[in-house]
Amino acid sequence: MGTKIIGTGSCLPKTVVTNDDLSRIMDTSDEWISSRTGIRERHLAKEETTASMSVEAAKRAMENAGVTADEIDLIIVGTVSADHVTPACACEVQAAVGADRAVAFDVNAACSGFMFALNIAHVYLQAGIYRTALILGAETLSKIMDWDDRSTCVLFGDGAGAAVVRAESISGLLSFDQGSDGTKGGVLACTNRTNNNPLVKTSRELEYVHMDGQEVYKFAVTAVPASLHKVIEAAGLTVEDIDYFALHQANIRIIQSVAKRLKVSEDKFPISLDHCGNISAASVPILLDEMNRKGMLKPGMKIALSGFGGGLTWASAVVEW
Ligand code: ACO
Repeated sequence: MGTKIIGTGSCLPKTVVTNDDLSRIMDTSDEWISSRTGIRERHLAKEETTASMSVEAAKRAMENAGVTADEIDLIIVGTVSADHVTPACACEVQAAVGADRAVAFDVNAACSGFMFALNIAHVYLQAGIYRTALILGAETLSKIMDWDDRSTCVLFGDGAGAAVVRAESISGLLSFDQGSDGTKGGVLACTNRTNNNPLVKTSRELEYVHMDGQEVYKFAVTAVPASLHKVIEAAGLTVEDIDYFALHQANIRIIQSVAKRLKVSEDKFPISLDHCGNISAASVPILLDEMNRKGMLKPGMKIALSGFGGGLTWASAVVEW
């Protein structure tokens, strides 16, 4: 029994903000941002929410897969920026698409969130518990950015991506790997509400994303090639057998370094960060949907996927399309 990705969808906010737009409201430049990150523009939410973009991405993935709401058994959303502490974004998606039978919950694995969701769904499907799952990565990161901190706010964007996966007799997901290193959690962090009760005085200050960019870079360029080597070997393949590497879209320099370490042409690393920025958990499914809609993915192709980020966390998989 395999876990096959049978449809993809995505949704980006309507409003595009270019690097030049940012340079008019803060001390930055297109040259600084694009030369260090590869990012030229990002979509930022105005009326859109994490749930509304998730619902749209989910509907597009269901349409692409040709599945109806009553076929969906499981909905998992990877997100660090759900609209509510509760209900989970996945429950909002369930209600909006009418997937009455589905079990729905969110996972927080930061930029690895979609990949963790994929792997969790895979395990449920392989165990024979569920047949069809809707998995998403969705973020409104702009609401947890400090817009006075130019070193972080220019890097991120908003959006949602989705995939429908189904237990099928033909192979699909060939191997996966995931890991966490909580000892380094502080290099990419965003504090939630702090204690607030009659015993504790709290300033109720809003907290935003803080990042040690160079430490994140060092982590990514070692953990990601190691994880990719692991899944490629576990799939019984070599690096040369992989048609595309669809990586979390954090930074072009990370992607270039991973390509170099794997000794693979950068042409095999499709990019969406130039027009999306870093959308954390949403970046892998949005990239996959763009590749799917451009007709880049042919049956039998081997695609290596990898997410990495806050936690720290990482997760990779090899799928046969
Ligand atoms: N515009 C102009 N100047 C800036 C900006 C900006 N937006 N941001 C910072 N600077 C300045 C700094 O103030 C500093 O100035 P100084 O030398 O006068 O003090 C200078 O640029 C260099 O700052 P650094 O933070 O050292 O910049 P660095 O060259 O390390 O680049 C970057 C920062 C791009 C984030 C880099 O560390 C990197 O590539 N990190 C990888 C991690 C990453 O991409 N994280 C994304 C999210 S995490 C994830 O998704 C896994």
